[in-house]
Amino acid sequence: MEPSAIEQLRSGGRLPGHVAIIMDGNGRWAGARGLPRYRGHRAGARAVREVIEGAVEAGVPILTLFAFSQENWQRPPREVSALMALLQQYVKKERDELREQGVRVRIFGDLERMESGPRAAIAEIEEATLGGRILQLNLMISYSGRMEIVRAARSLAADVAAGLLDPAHIDEAVFAARLFTGSQPDPDLLIRTSGEQRVSNFMLWQVAYTELHITPTLWPDFTRQDLFEAIIEYQKRERRFGRIGAT
Ligand code: IPE
Ligand code: IPE
Ligand code: MG
Repeated sequence: MEPSAIEQLRSGGRLPGHVAIIMDGNGRWAGARGLPRYRGHRAGARAVREVIEGAVEAGVPILTLFAFSQENWQRPPREVSALMALLQQYVKKERDELREQGVRVRIFGDLERMESGPRAAIAEIEEATLGGRILQLNLMISYSGRMEIVRAARSLAADVAAGLLDPAHIDEAVFAARLFTGSQPDPDLLIRTSGEQRVSNFMLWQVAYTELHITPTLWPDFTRQDLFEAIIEYQKRERRFGRIGAT
C-alpha cells in the first residue's frame, strides 16, 4: 500500500517549524458557483478549521493565517461587515474546541480599526487559549507587513528618544523582536492559494528566506491533505540561505 501523506511527511525529514498561509480565493470560489462573495468567506472558515487540525496532526508548532489585510478595508462596506461578522462568529464558535486541542490563538494587526464586537471576541479567544502548548496560531487581521515594520521602527525610535536604547544596539534580532511575531521563528513555508504570484504585503520582514508554495486551489477547497502535500514538497527543497549546495 502507498504510504499515506501523513506517514510520508513524518519520514520525509524536517517539519517546518512555522507555516504561514495567504488564504486567497474565497470570492472566486463563490463566483464560480453563482453565489455572493460572503458565501465564499463562509466556506473559507471551514477550511481554516481543517488546516488548524491538519497542522496539529502533522505536528507543525506555529501556524500563521492571513485573514484580512489593511488593504481589505477598501472593499465594499457590505463585504467588510460580512467578514467581520464571520470572524466574530468563528472565534466564538471555535474557542472551546481550540482550547481543548491545545491551540494558543493570538491576533495581530491594527485592531483599533475594528468594531467593538469582533474586538471583544478576539480578546476573549486570546485569553481563553492562553495555555495552549500544542500549536501557536497567529491570526493576522487588519494586518499589513509594511505597517508592522513601521510600528517596530516607531517603537524603537521612542525608546531611543527616551534614552532607553542606544541606536548602535539596534540589530536584526532587536528589530525583529518588535514585530508582532516577536521571538517566533520566521516562517519556513509560505503557502498561497488561488494561484496569485505575489505576497500582498504579508510578513515582509519575516519571509526573507521562506520557501514559497503557490497552489491554484481556491482557499475554500484547501484541505489538510493539501497542507500535507505542501509540507512534503517543502521537505524536498534544498534551502541554501545564500550559501552553496550540500553536494
Ligand atoms: C481571500 O479571498 C479572503 C480575503 C482576502 C479576506 P478573496 O476575498 O480575496 O477572494 P478572491 O481573491 O476575490 O477570489
Ligand atoms: C491577500 O489577499 C489578503 C488575505 C488573504 C487576507 P487579497 O485578495 O487581498 O490580495 P490581492 O488583492 O489579490 O493582492
Ligand atoms: Mg483575493
